Amino acid sequence: MAEHQVVEGDLLTVLPTLGVFDFIYADPPYGISHLSRPIDFGKMGVYQVPPDTSYDTFASEEDYTRFTCKWVRWVASCLSPGGSVVVSTTHHHLDTLLSELKGCGLKHLHNIVWLKTNAIPNMSAKLLMHTHEYLLWFSKGGGWYMDYHWLKSWNGGKQCRDVVSFPMTSESERVRVDGKMICRAQKPSALMEWIARGFTRPGSRLLEAFGGVGSFAVAVKNVGERSCVVVEKDPTRAAIIRGRLDPGGGEIG
Ligand SMILES: C[S@@+](CC[C@H](N)C(=O)[O-])C[C@H]1O[C@@H](n2cnc3c(N)ncnc32)[C@H](O)[C@@H]1O
Repeated sequence: MAEHQVVEGDLLTVLPTLGVFDFIYADPPYGISHLSRPIDFGKMGVYQVPPDTSYDTFASEEDYTRFTCKWVRWVASCLSPGGSVVVSTTHHHLDTLLSELKGCGLKHLHNIVWLKTNAIPNMSAKLLMHTHEYLLWFSKGGGWYMDYHWLKSWNGGKQCRDVVSFPMTSESERVRVDGKMICRAQKPSALMEWIARGFTRPGSRLLEAFGGVGSFAVAVKNVGERSCVVVEKDPTRAAIIRGRLDPGGGEIG
C-alpha cells in the first residue's frame, strides 16, 4: 500500500529533513489577500464565513519575494534528478516565481493555464474578469515524466494543450468545519487528479508543499500507486488533511 504522511510545521524548517522527491506540487500563499474586499455574500443569498487568510499576509512585496526565494531554493534542492515541480500562481507574482525557479537552475517546461469555467465576476468594473491561474511546470534537468498517452486520451484523443479547463472547487467538495470554509484556495479535485495522473510516475515519491486541506495528497491517494508527504504549518488544517487521507484514523503519520 502506498504510504502518505502529513508533516505539521513550517516548510522552511522541515523540508531539509524530509529527503528527496520525484515530484512536488506547491500551492504557496499568493500574497494577494490584501487585495480582496469583504463581500457580504448574504445579499446574494449565500452566506460565507470568511476563512483565515493570515498565512497570506506579508509586510511588503520585498518580504514576499524573500519568502518565495527561500522556499523555491529548498524545493529545488530536494528534487531528484529528472524530478519536476508544478507551482500554482496568478499573474500577481508570476514574475517573482519564474525568476526564482529559473534562478535555481530548473528547466522551464510550461506555463500551463488553468481556465476556470465558473470564474467569479470582477465587481470593480475597472478590470476584466479573472478567469485563469498558472501551473508553472519546471524540471531538474532532462528525463521528466509526463504520461503523453493518458493526457491525449483525457483530451478526447487529441494532443493535450497547455490550456486546460476545470471548474473551481464545487460546494459539494469544499471542506467546511461547522459551516466555516477552511481554505479559500482549496483546489478542485479534478485538477489535482489531472496533475497526479499526467505528471507523476507510478511508484514515485511526491510532496505537497503547502498543504491547505491537502487536495493534491487526496488526489494522489485516489490515483494510487504513489506516496505523498504533505507539509502544512497550521495545526487545524494539518488535522483536516490527516482526516481526509485516513478517515478511519491510525494509519497516517
Ligand atoms: C494556498 S493554500 C493551499 C491550498 C491547497 N492547495 C488546497 O487545495 O487545500 C496555502 C497553505 O500553505 C500554508 N502555509 C503557508 N506558509 C507555510 C509554510 N511556511 N510552511 C507550511 N505551510 C505553509 C497555509 O497555512 C495554507 O494552508
